[in-house]
Amino acid sequence: MSAVLKDVPLLSPMTERDLDEVVAIEDTIYSHPWTRGNFSDSLHARYECRTWRLGGQLVGYFVLMVAAGEAHLLNLSVRASEQRSGHGSALLREAAAIARRLGARSLFLEVRPSNHAAQALYRRFGFRNVAVRRGYYPAHTGREDALVLTLAL
Ligand SMILES: CC(C)(COP(=O)(O)OP(=O)(O)OC[C@H]1O[C@@H](n2cnc3c(N)ncnc32)[C@H](O)[C@@H]1OP(=O)(O)O)[C@@H](O)C(=O)NCCC(=O)NCCS
Repeated sequence: MSAVLKDVPLLSPMTERDLDEVVAIEDTIYSHPWTRGNFSDSLHARYECRTWRLGGQLVGYFVLMVAAGEAHLLNLSVRASEQRSGHGSALLREAAAIARRLGARSLFLEVRPSNHAAQALYRRFGFRNVAVRRGYYPAHTGREDALVLTLAL
């Protein structure tokens, strides 16, 4: 029984208590990770912040902002050792479901042009390019543009 339960990832509201683990993952998977303060601010702003745990281990998380009929996916992350196992797709489905439930009709996100893995995930999910934000991201030298992608909910 416990073996079965262990294999089912659990989506839960993120809390301050999760942040040590969240930041530990964040620091290993991004060149310019969010800080603990960025996550704390998102919790205080009451954004939709969720963790995804498998057998108690934090496998992924997302931060979603929903307002005025639009949703914005601010962060979507999967632990390096668990990537390419369907968790990113599952988290994206959960985020889209929450956005829809809260009345959003479109889901937006930004992605680095150099982030081919994330772009492949989003395009497979049905996202389409709508804009480019020039110099949106910090980069090792200078700034990097952001591709703005959207999905009709
Ligand atoms: C992007 C990210 C969330 C994807 O999560 P994931 O759990 O690996 O995604 P999935 O296993 O659900 O992948 C779904 C599909 O996306 C595409 N994809 C995912 N990772 C890929 C990669 N490294 N290279 C090419 N395609 C990839 C594939 O089409 C994949 O399907 P397949 O495995 O059947 O070929 C994860 O790689 C991650 O956390 N990266 C670091 C943080 C990040 O870049 N977040 C997004 C910021 S915008």
